[in-house]
Amino acid sequence: MLARKIIHLTLAVAAFGLILAAQEQPAKTIQQVPVKPTSAASGKEMYNSYCAVCHGTDGKGHGPAADALKTPPSDLTVLSKNNGGKYPALKVSSAIRGDANVPAHGNKEMPVWGRVFQSISGGHESEVVQRIANLNRYIESLQAK
Ligand code: HEC
Repeated sequence: MLARKIIHLTLAVAAFGLILAAQEQPAKTIQQVPVKPTSAASGKEMYNSYCAVCHGTDGKGHGPAADALKTPPSDLTVLSKNNGGKYPALKVSSAIRGDANVPAHGNKEMPVWGRVFQSISGGHESEVVQRIANLNRYIESLQAK
């Protein structure tokens, strides 16, 4: 039941992204949308609000909605390990924004976060950049040693 609720919320986020793209009218639609506004300064708050539902609070990919997805959410704690010990910041940024080749991000199962962040940041690109940088830093802190 919980998982279903969360999926519903996630779909609402995705739909919001699409509506925005079509109308480019952010301000008026924001309040009807169940995307919790977060501080751009806290990677942890953003992660727990937007990512943990699928990737889990520990980043290992076992969030409450994970079972309902066709593709299991990636284990975000092994990104460095799988990249020769170097944290792949650029790859993660584009995965979040939605321009990386991550099939589950940007399709029906997954909103393109770049667009969602643009709307909650009132269209300010510098704030979107800050959100992604802080999320990136937080995910980097979750890396397995
Ligand atoms: C609705 C579920 C869902 C949510 C919410 C979600 N993700 Fe994902 N994410 C996935 C799935 C599924 C994949 C795996 C895609 C694939 O392998 O095709 C993935 C993949 C990724 C990847 C690529 C990892 C790799 O190994 O290349 C990154 C980075 C990522 N997600 C970050 C995030 C961040 C940051 C957030 C929050 C802003 C987030 N995700 C929210 C489902 C989700």
